[in-house]
Amino acid sequence: MNDIPAPVLLIEANTVIATPPLVPEIRLHLATEVTPLWEATERFLREAHLPPPFWAFAWPGGQALARFVLDNPAWVEGRRVLDVGAGSGLVAIAAALAGAKYVIAADMDANARRAVLLNAALNGVDIEIVAGDATAQAPAPVDTVLAGDICYERGAAARLSEWLAGLTASGMVVLLGDPGRTYLPKDRLEALANYDVPTSLELEDRVMKATTIWRMRG
Ligand SMILES: C[S@@+](CC[C@H](N)C(=O)[O-])C[C@H]1O[C@@H](n2cnc3c(N)ncnc32)[C@H](O)[C@@H]1O
Repeated sequence: MNDIPAPVLLIEANTVIATPPLVPEIRLHLATEVTPLWEATERFLREAHLPPPFWAFAWPGGQALARFVLDNPAWVEGRRVLDVGAGSGLVAIAAALAGAKYVIAADMDANARRAVLLNAALNGVDIEIVAGDATAQAPAPVDTVLAGDICYERGAAARLSEWLAGLTASGMVVLLGDPGRTYLPKDRLEALANYDVPTSLELEDRVMKATTIWRMRG
């Protein structure tokens, strides 16, 4: 009898193992096209009008933040780290490879959480998983919070920004990777680094996105 969980089959059937262009040291299950996977996910969940399968792409904000963490490990080394809006888990995996004490990945999409576990195993790291809307929960006990590309929708970005501001006020270090999304709370942020991130025409309508690493001000 086949005892592989159905979400794993969905992911494995609709992705290839590849490396994000800016982070070639990390391997992920990534989709080569958006639409077939999106349709397969809707069929799998028997639901229409779902958000796109964010977990199947390495978004510019996540690629830049993963690169930053790998090249500047002092931000995470020996620290307890949360990757919020983890998607594929790219940023969480980078933090684990850069020497974090432990890493927790939070995503409200169940398929993303399964993808994080598959991708963590591909890269030989351990990641803990948190389900549900991160902003509706007490924060995990961490020192550093990483968020790649989470400011793409007005309501969600506002909730996440308020929540992250609260974590900053409580003493956590909060870093965001963002390619100029509309709902980025720029007035609360200071820039740490810039990257040109290769991306796809299908996702972003261009082949390169200028992306900034931001630290939230206390
Ligand atoms: C555009 S994707 C970015 C994924 C990854 N960080 C990257 O850069 O490749 C945003 C992810 O955030 C998750 N997300 C958005 N709001 C969230 C919330 N309030 N709590 C938990 N996850 C959230 C979505 O499910 C999605 O997987």
